[in-house]
Amino acid sequence: MRKIVAGNWKSQKLMDEGRELIDAIAQGLNKQQGKTEVVVAPPAPYLAAYASDLQVEGDRHVALAAQTCSAHGPGAHTGEFTAEMLRSAGVHQVIIGHSERRERFGETDPIVQSKVAAGLAADLQVIFCCGEPLEVRKQGEENAWVEAQLRSALSEIAPAVAASRLVVAYEPIWAIGTGETATAEQAQDMHAFIRTILNDLFGSGTGAEIPILYGGSCKPSNAAELFAGADVNGGLIGGASLNAEDFLAIIAASDAA
Ligand code: PGA
Repeated sequence: MRKIVAGNWKSQKLMDEGRELIDAIAQGLNKQQGKTEVVVAPPAPYLAAYASDLQVEGDRHVALAAQTCSAHGPGAHTGEFTAEMLRSAGVHQVIIGHSERRERFGETDPIVQSKVAAGLAADLQVIFCCGEPLEVRKQGEENAWVEAQLRSALSEIAPAVAASRLVVAYEPIWAIGTGETATAEQAQDMHAFIRTILNDLFGSGTGAEIPILYGGSCKPSNAAELFAGADVNGGLIGGASLNAEDFLAIIAASDAA
């Protein structure tokens, strides 16, 4: 199984600060043995410049992801950037459906579904985010909530495409940026459930191959415990990805898992 640790910077870091952070991560990776794939998702305006910097990096490289892309193709859509534009700028991955996009920027399930389709059609790796709010967890309805998000966004994807370019991130909303983390057991239970849905959508051979990342206050002190879950194949890291030492420690925890 592939393992992935991805850093979601959100709207943080100026361009030079981000470049320093990527340099520090790349230098750290050269000293760490391991197979975890490492991704960072900086603010969109820096992506093309970072993509050309990164062409000269060493063996264990840092890949770039965008934090969103347009649901549409090219056209008169002021302010939008398409999945193909990302690819043409040297970016090969995109995060879609993050709860902050859904909650603050009106991304409904149909919009998320279109964005996932656009990303995959442009040959990007899509890191699809799902996860329930606190009220839903309190009512014990989290599985139904996450299942609906998965089925709505992923039902039209061909198994071969899912096998090669789909990654799922489970991010319970109540754990994002709150310091509160799902317990290792809560994370594994949900990841195992997500795996059953992926098996149902794509066939069990393919479902077993799709990495499922945990996100929500994952940090050096809890990463090893979270990554010990059989269906926890890495993390999507917010706050702790803004500091090279913390991010490298989380990557090391994934390598060791
Ligand atoms: P956090 O964010 O690690 O700061 O909780 C995770 C995310 O939103 O991807």
